[in-house]
Order: sequence, then structure tokens, then C-alpha cells
Amino acid sequence: MADVVLGIETSCDETSAAVLVREGGQPELASLVILSQDVHRIFGGVVPELASRAHLTALDPVVARALSEAGVPIKAVDAVAVTAGPGLVGSLLVGVCYGKALAAVKGRDLVGVNHLEGHVFAVTLDDPYLEPPFVALLVSGGHTLLLDVAEWGHYRLLGETRDDAAGEAFDKVASMLQLGYPGGPEIERLARDGRDRFDFPRPMLTAGFDFSFSGLKTAVLYSVRASRNLAAEKADIAASFQAAVFDVLIAKATAAIEHTGYTTVVLAGGVACSKSLVTCAAQRLTGVARVAVAQPRLNADNAAMIARAGWFHLEQGHSNDLFLDANPRLPWPGLERPITSGKSPRLTP
Ligand code: KG4
Ligand code: ZN
Repeated sequence: MADVVLGIETSCDETSAAVLVREGGQPELASLVILSQDVHRIFGGVVPELASRAHLTALDPVVARALSEAGVPIKAVDAVAVTAGPGLVGSLLVGVCYGKALAAVKGRDLVGVNHLEGHVFAVTLDDPYLEPPFVALLVSGGHTLLLDVAEWGHYRLLGETRDDAAGEAFDKVASMLQLGYPGGPEIERLARDGRDRFDFPRPMLTAGFDFSFSGLKTAVLYSVRASRNLAAEKADIAASFQAAVFDVLIAKATAAIEHTGYTTVVLAGGVACSKSLVTCAAQRLTGVARVAVAQPRLNADNAAMIARAGWFHLEQGHSNDLFLDANPRLPWPGLERPITSGKSPRLTP
């Protein structure tokens, strides 16, 4: 059993390391260092080759800093948990090679973690007593997943996006509005001064548990093109777009609660950094379900969630040997996908 786990995350454009230590039987976060790569801002999106190079330079000092902030010498680390996928292959490789080298040289356990499972575990770092069953809505830059989490390690996929992820739609709409990258926080800020007056579509609102955001994105594009004074209308477009996304996300989460009979919804992933989403979901789900969400730095990409998911797998007796490889399409262990009948259940609006 591990008492000190070092987590490493390099799946995209954050270089992160964290230390989890056992305190009274529970894993407690002793340190978390996140270095967000600035180099991509100028390109308006992540440039994979630049991301891997930046990880290469940053990872060793980031790990050293996490250990020193935790007051833990490297020899006290029992196991290394590293993101093995999904993500950008070059970025993942840097973390996986580093984690393997560290585990091999120090003779420590190694566990490869699925980044998406890590996102769901993040909530337990703030709320250690939160236990399944619950519905999880995982909304990030690359994924939009609605999950039935019956128990840790067993996940049933209820729905997912058929095109763009929610975070990706935020980033693309932000770019249409000439805002910076990443777009989510910029849209949230701008939307505070805007009014939901554009009648944007709520795609697939009542059509099963799957999501679709590309039509909404196109609707925003048409409004941007038609605008005679974009500077004056930007805030209203941002507010209307954000309201449309939230309506869909919250309607599906509510339907999943009705479907499963559970009483908790966990919001996870980068889009769950949005205070507006958390407030809106908590309001609309009052009397229906409790909304559990971690603080923003644990919802954005970070190594604490990777260490926490790795901790779980180590406790289950799982670990990897040095054949562990980076896999940009790493399957999620324990994820059960529905057998599609071709028909989606209709949901009540
Ligand atoms: O989970 P994450 O950090 O990285 C991935 O695994 O993809 O998610 C990043 C995404 C970006 O698309 C970003 O625009 C979005 O999360 N995001 C937000 C907010 N903060 C980050 N979206 C909406 N509102 C926010 N406040
Ligand atoms: Zn992520």
C-alpha cells in the first residue's frame, strides 16, 4: 500500500506534478504545481510540437518543486502515477518516459492513469467522503461525457458528444468573438455584462443523453457575421451562447438523475471551472440533486487528480511495468459503453 504518491500530468498544455500523502487513512494533497504553457496563446490553440518541447524543459523542475513544497524527499515516494492517455502523443510521452525512468531508477511502483478517470476523481480531493453512486458530467476541451458512476472503477457511459466537446465550442466561439485562448474563462467574463437575447438553438435538448454543439457554433457564427456592431453585441452573444450550452448540459444531467434515481451530480473537467455553470446547475437542480464540484484548479488539468486516480488503482493492486506506453486513445478502464440500438430515448424537456 502506498503512503506517498507522486502524480505527473502532461497530456496537453499543462505541466503538472503533485504529491498525495496518507493522513488518517485518507489521501491528502500535500502539494500541487501547475505550469500552464503560455507559448500557445499567440496561436489561439495548442501547438502539439511546442507543447511536448515545453514539457521536456519544465517537467523536472515542476516535479522538484512539488516535492519540496510537500516537504517530501524523493526517497519517501512509494509510487509514481502518470497520465498515459488520452491526450497529445508527444506530450504524453514526456510524462510517461519521465515517470518510468523515475520508478525504475528508484525501484518504485508505477501506475498509468487515464486522464478522464482522473477528472472524475478530482472532486474527492475537496470532498473525501463523496462516494458513488452519482451521475458525473465530464466537460472538458476534448470530451463531453455523461456517466453513471455506480462505484469507483465502474462507469457506464450514458451519453457523449457527437461532434465538438463543450470546452472546444467555448474556445471556437471565443475565437469568433476575437477573445483570447482558452476561450471559456473569457466568455464567462464577457457574459456577465450581456443578456441572453439571441435565440440560439439548444441542440438535442430532449433527444437522449448524447450532445451536439456544432450546430450551436454555426448559429453563433451566423450572428457574428450578421452583426453590424460586433463590439456592442459581443457580450450579448457570449451570454446567449453560454446560456444555450448550460441549458443543454443541465437538462441532460437532470434527465440522468431521473434515469438513475441517484441524488448527486458531479461536475468535472475544465468547463466545470465556470462559476456560472456551477451556480446555474445548483439552482436548477435544487430539490432534485446535490451538485458536487471541486475547486477550479482541481478541475482544470492537474496532477493531483492523476495521483488520486492512481492511488485508487494502487489500492486495488494494479500497477504497470516498464512497458507502459503513451496512448493518445487510451481506453478508459472500467467504462461500459451502451449497445446502441439506433434509437435514443426521448427526454422530458
Ligand atoms: O479539462 P481541461 O482543462 O483540458 C482538457 O482535458 O481538455 O479543459 C479545458 C477546457 C477549455 O476548452 C476551456 O475553454 C474550458 O475548459 N474552460 C471553461 C472555463 N474554464 C475553462 N469553459 C467555460 N467556462 C470557464 N470558466
Ligand atoms: Zn482534461
